[in-house]
Amino acid sequence: MAEAVEHSLQYLPEGDLHAIATYLKGTAPIRDEGDTIPAFSYGAPYDVENSVRGRNPNNANHSLDNGAALFSGNCASCHQPDGAGSANQAYPSLFHNTATGLRNPNNLISAILFGVQRDTADHQVLMPGFSSPSYVDKLNDQQVADISNFVLAHYGNAEVTVTAGDVAWVRKGGHPPLLARLQPMMLPGMIGAIIVLLVVIVAWRLMRRRRVD
Ligand code: HEC
Repeated sequence: MAEAVEHSLQYLPEGDLHAIATYLKGTAPIRDEGDTIPAFSYGAPYDVENSVRGRNPNNANHSLDNGAALFSGNCASCHQPDGAGSANQAYPSLFHNTATGLRNPNNLISAILFGVQRDTADHQVLMPGFSSPSYVDKLNDQQVADISNFVLAHYGNAEVTVTAGDVAWVRKGGHPPLLARLQPMMLPGMIGAIIVLLVVIVAWRLMRRRRVD
């Protein structure tokens, strides 16, 4: 979506934007069957810092290998330790956010892997992606899954969970587009079509010749 805004939608005339908004408001939403309440209604502030800092050995989160600690180290600087985002929401809240309240966690996983970058005439919005290439630490599939599960459990739809396999799938780009899936069949298909065409032409010419005789 950020790409669509950056390269296209920001240039639409006011009238077109109003027309799109009017159309969307008048159209019945199509939901995933599992989405029973609005995606933006999930979550609440939850501050991780006390549970990941300090030297209490009984602290369950006292490890660099869990979602809370990874969130604190990689996300809290912008989205704040309680997930509420900055005061002006330039760094958005992670609760009451459609990216964390949906049944389908792919937007959340994609935001972490690929970041969000949007340039407009007078603004730049940047969240670094945590996959390669990156300005920040790269996170592996399990780490992205751990952060996603932490974020979902406290700030989003707690019924949704993410596995390292889900992250690997999104990292690869998800479902390949139709053309890419058809590509292996294209060359044999074209050769087949040319052969059929040749057979038809030859048959047609033979029939014509016979008629003339
Ligand atoms: C350098 C600051 C920064 C860091 C670090 C950062 N984010 Fe973000 N994040 C942003 C900004 C800026 C946006 C986009 C705001 C916008 O779209 O206007 C954003 C958007 C998001 C969104 C919403 C995406 C969407 O599609 O709307 C999610 C979810 C998110 N971040 C999660 C995370 C998680 C989880 C981490 C840690 C792995 C993280 N962010 C780290 C700045 C940051």
